Amino acid sequence: MNFRIIIVLIASVMLIYSCHSTVDFKDEIDLKVDNLLCQMTLEEKIGQMNQYNGFWDVTGPVPSEENAQTKYEHIKKGWVGSMLNVRGAIKVRKMQSLAVDSSRLGIPMIFGFDVIHGHKTMSPIPLAESASWDLQAIEKSARIAAIEASAEGLNWTFAPMVDISRDARWGRVMEGAGEDTYLAARIGVARINGFQGDDLNSPNTIAACAKHFAGYGFAEAGMDYNTVDVGTTTLHNVIFPPFKAAIDEAKVKTIMNSFNIINGVPATANKWLQRDILKNKWGFEGFVISDWSSGEEMIDHGYAKDLEHVAELSAIGGSDMDMESHAYIKCLAKLVKAGKVEESKVDDAVRRILKVKFELGLFEDPYKYCDESRETELIYHPKHMAAALDMAKKSIVLLKNENQLLPLKKNKSKVAVIGALANDKDSPLGNWRMAADDNTAVSVLEGLKSYGVNYKYAEGAKLITGETAFSAKIKVNTSDKSGFQQAITLAKKSDVVIMVLGEHALHSGEGRSRSRLGLPGVQQELLEAVYKVNQNIVLVLMNGRPLAITWADEHIPAILETWHLGTQTGHAIAEVLYGAYNPSGKLPMTFPRHVGQVPIYYNQYRTGRPGPKTEVFWPHYIDSSEKPLYPFGYGLSYTQFEYSDMSVKVVDNTKVEVKVSVLNSGSVFGEEVVQLYLHDKVASVVRPVKELKGFEKISLKPNQSKEVVFVLTNKELGFYDGAGHFLVEPGEFEVMVGTNSESGLKDNFILTGF
Ligand code: GLC
Repeated sequence: MNFRIIIVLIASVMLIYSCHSTVDFKDEIDLKVDNLLCQMTLEEKIGQMNQYNGFWDVTGPVPSEENAQTKYEHIKKGWVGSMLNVRGAIKVRKMQSLAVDSSRLGIPMIFGFDVIHGHKTMSPIPLAESASWDLQAIEKSARIAAIEASAEGLNWTFAPMVDISRDARWGRVMEGAGEDTYLAARIGVARINGFQGDDLNSPNTIAACAKHFAGYGFAEAGMDYNTVDVGTTTLHNVIFPPFKAAIDEAKVKTIMNSFNIINGVPATANKWLQRDILKNKWGFEGFVISDWSSGEEMIDHGYAKDLEHVAELSAIGGSDMDMESHAYIKCLAKLVKAGKVEESKVDDAVRRILKVKFELGLFEDPYKYCDESRETELIYHPKHMAAALDMAKKSIVLLKNENQLLPLKKNKSKVAVIGALANDKDSPLGNWRMAADDNTAVSVLEGLKSYGVNYKYAEGAKLITGETAFSAKIKVNTSDKSGFQQAITLAKKSDVVIMVLGEHALHSGEGRSRSRLGLPGVQQELLEAVYKVNQNIVLVLMNGRPLAITWADEHIPAILETWHLGTQTGHAIAEVLYGAYNPSGKLPMTFPRHVGQVPIYYNQYRTGRPGPKTEVFWPHYIDSSEKPLYPFGYGLSYTQFEYSDMSVKVVDNTKVEVKVSVLNSGSVFGEEVVQLYLHDKVASVVRPVKELKGFEKISLKPNQSKEVVFVLTNKELGFYDGAGHFLVEPGEFEVMVGTNSESGLKDNFILTGF
């Protein structure tokens, strides 16, 4: 090594220790980060904390409007650490070169995008994937999304959403893993592992982002962006664990905060949330990005006086990067110079951001994700299509199958298909499909035709009238029944009617909450009109949330929940309808009988009046059952499973072994999600009547049985008190192992004093 390099190295080390003698360098990247940090001006540091939306087509001229010109100039100055919504190898390369070639230090930007359920090849919406309970398939789905997104120049996704929600009115339930903490944590980890892979430096892995921290899914009245007011035992036991699992088990690189308040303080400036809990108690080493303009929205919250106050509160509150509030870039330098914000807080944020960029390999090669040949080769790859079909089939839930109407026998009867959604190639892609090409889903009609099914089709009624757009209200058809008669006539002369009804893709998603949970528009009337002339109906639901389909449950013999299944929708539904695939899905969210029951969820607290001890004075409605229509974990099969030989063994106070035998007593191959629920009967904070603490998806041939073993450790036996202390207490527990949250074999065990 020549003399010059030695001098430079010694100088670098001396320079670093002169700037930051307090930092302990965990690894080589830390050294590089601090070496770079030492060279940065305050404005350049703050630039890393600034994320802009790239709304102009970078292959064309920059729009003349001030906003775009400002962004353009800031990128060239190195004052933009990240862009979102810029994709395409060529576009990203052009945008990246603005930062790398024009700015003083040439720090590369990180490009983020909402890769929520697939990128171009769309997989089922996350709530649908969650219904598969198949962690390997879910991880593979995220892996493929990362491969396609990275082929388009992206190195960061704003996913997975790990928000728990018990309220089907909330439009974003489609984007999460439902109501249960244990299931959502396992699924969140699987998704992050899929996105980040085992080598973040690889060009086909991308940084993940667990969001929205925290409590966003508890918006009052299920209304998006509404007030959240939850207690600390709910935060620690229900809302936080999926985020903690994302950090501890999947090493998630980024966290996105939420629009809502927690204990009266907006998450974006919530020091308790983002510093005390996330960074200090949990040791999160990645960076926190605000949600879109969630910083500036603190003015509307009535928490910040103006944009400068936003910058001060957000920086002190632990938000590392500002998405589109422009608060940091406009105001933070002045605050630091005035001593209102310590520069050490800026340094901490910038270290976190630079570390992820180093780990992604962006400094080695800022253009490593900008390979057009990968784009051409990988987007819509046949292997991705095959995986999307597999994921879609596994996401379907059989809700009802009276007299074994399903599976249908191909071309043994005259089949009518009715419903606008049967012929829809766009809605099945679901919401949050930012990069998808419109109308690229295989429709139900196309799937049936490809499967060789002879059918006749009648639309019955339009679902919506007029065009739709991601950011516009949809116009639901609430009056045009002109197609009813044609549908009725067709139904009359058919042996079986497949009715495809449900929600448009834009009936759910961000900003898409509903106050009712029935079939939108005139669909219910269409269903009842067809039922009058032909009761042999298979209802195929296509929706982004649980629906209150009580009438259908009472009248329709077969019901399939198919959600929005993505690109391979039609093929998946055809295979399940005709038995090529035996449905194995289980509901990740409770289906209510009526919207008035919401929020409704299985792991309720017992209350002081758990059951009808009197006629009137107990938790119930006088005009409806208090029971759900379909419970969490529910899903039928074309075969039957029998549970037997349950045994429970307390190995010691930190380990309990539970065994059960499951038999496929039916006549066809099937998969079963064996679920374990636990109830800590008496504890220092009340515990739910049951909580999912284990599951295993097994496959069984007819007459084959398998012993399933669960091992409960402190992790499953314990809980958090309101102060966030994790406790495992002696006492009596009830354990249930079964096919859903309402039925299974039960036993008790006692943990004695520790
Ligand atoms: C949105 C969403 C967030 C998303 C972000 C960027 O408002 O709340 O989940 O990642 O903006 O599109």
